Amino acid sequence: MNDIIQIAKAQAAPPCTVVIFGASGDLSKRKLIPALYNLHACGPEIAPDNYAVLGFARRPIAVEEFRAGAREAAARFSRLELDDARWREFSSRLDYLAGLDQPDGFRRLKARLEAIEAARGLPPNRIYYLSVPPEAIAECAGRLAEAGLVARPGAANFTRLVVEKPIGSDLESALKVDGALRRHFDESQIFRIDHYLGKETVQNLMVLRFANSIFERMWGARNVDHVQITVAESEGVGARALYYDPAGALRDMVQNHLLQLLALIAMDPPVSLDAGAIRDAKLNVLRALRRLAPGAARSLVVRARYGPGNVDGQAVRGYAQEPGVPAASRTETFVALKAYIDNWRWSGVPFYLRTGKRMPARGSVIRVQFKDVPRILFNRERQLPPNALTIRIQPDEGFSFEVLAKQPGLDIAIRPVRMNLRYESEFSGPSPDAYERLLLDVMIGDRTLFVSANFVGKSWEFVQSILDQWSAGPELPLYEYPAGSHGPEAAERLIAEDGRAWFNP
Ligand SMILES: NC(=O)c1ccc[n+]([C@@H]2O[C@H](COP(=O)([O-])OP(=O)(O)OC[C@H]3O[C@@H](n4cnc5c(N)ncnc54)[C@H](OP(=O)(O)O)[C@@H]3O)[C@@H](O)[C@H]2O)c1
Repeated sequence: MNDIIQIAKAQAAPPCTVVIFGASGDLSKRKLIPALYNLHACGPEIAPDNYAVLGFARRPIAVEEFRAGAREAAARFSRLELDDARWREFSSRLDYLAGLDQPDGFRRLKARLEAIEAARGLPPNRIYYLSVPPEAIAECAGRLAEAGLVARPGAANFTRLVVEKPIGSDLESALKVDGALRRHFDESQIFRIDHYLGKETVQNLMVLRFANSIFERMWGARNVDHVQITVAESEGVGARALYYDPAGALRDMVQNHLLQLLALIAMDPPVSLDAGAIRDAKLNVLRALRRLAPGAARSLVVRARYGPGNVDGQAVRGYAQEPGVPAASRTETFVALKAYIDNWRWSGVPFYLRTGKRMPARGSVIRVQFKDVPRILFNRERQLPPNALTIRIQPDEGFSFEVLAKQPGLDIAIRPVRMNLRYESEFSGPSPDAYERLLLDVMIGDRTLFVSANFVGKSWEFVQSILDQWSAGPELPLYEYPAGSHGPEAAERLIAEDGRAWFNP
């Protein structure tokens, strides 16, 4: 079948200037510059016909040096091969300014922006992408406002602020950061990024659920036995202990990516495809997500950290031996938990969430396991495995549906088979990177794939109910698992006690 049904065409972005705060950093090099180049390479149907990119950070870098660094980064990380002519066009739009930490830095930013806009004939549509450490976010927002760089919401020219995760390190600090942002920006101007939401397969979750009639009818407690969400990384903490150790897996992964996936898989059909309707439907899932009852962390949550082991045939050190990890660290690199959504659709259905570093392979997978086949006909001996839908977010994007079929032959023998869709073989060409999609959406002002303030608050409320019990109960175990394994025994027990098992991607 080749009939493509166009629901909405990608809009071309309006003229604007993107200011990357923290342009000398890792995110800017690996993701933002390559994504902006790729958008440029899409041509006038997508890229604004006039725009500029201004890097803003602390250290002085000559513009030519900044452009050369950007070229190197784009050559290395862009999904499209670098084309010399296209790169020259793109690079002529790049500029750089130092002084983010200087008292007159924002006054100079204003002057530079006005000069760029005047020289290029650009309207003052401005996007401020805060790719700076989390503790600098509130200050940058305040200084932008002080410098007169924030237009009123609804003004003829837009001001948009893009904020990266993490927002806060617990419920209280998240609310504080959000309060600081909202003192200077209207909620409609704030775009909180969770890059998972920009991934093709994550966007496909909604299409899979709401563009097919078969799934929605089965989606809920009547037919679903349980749901598993696993986000596994094979990498260790590497050189990022300074950032990672104060956070840990619960804050770093569960609070954002896993709860986003949970919301998308469990939400009711939104009343429309508008950003507000979709964000409301997702928020309702978190409203119904059961907070941990006092004392429940012991039975519902497993935390652990990796010990020495083997990944991809290489011996690797344990977390405690990684450079920069404090000797007294009790940080978890793995969390497994069982959660419930107390609404009509999901009442009584467990959601098992699991994430960890140094697992055998990188993979993000959602598995919806349906109820057992009744113990009649072919299943009298209770031998048949249940049907399951497995959605692979990354890598090998796609999904498979496991059903049972007769093994050809004179016997009556039944075998599970997979109806498998692989994005790579079904659709030609690589998918756009998540940051490309998200940057384009910021330019056109579509907030569907961004995280609302309420979602951030509710997700922290859930995570805080776990953090509180961990801090009140230091005797709660922090298990160790060998690097290269699927996690500690305790995580296997968490699900095995319910007569179930983890699906390992
Ligand atoms: N890297 C990723 O893959 C990734 C993924 C998700 C989220 N994030 C988030 O994105 C943000 C940037 O991450 P990154 O990895 O690019 O960090 P990074 O490599 O450390 O770069 C940080 C940038 O911010 C500037 N900076 C450092 N301290 C600052 C301060 N106190 N005030 C103002 N600017 C400061 C630095 O400027 P100078 O170099 O000029 O000193 C640098 O340009 C962080 O919030 C991070 O949590 C990153």
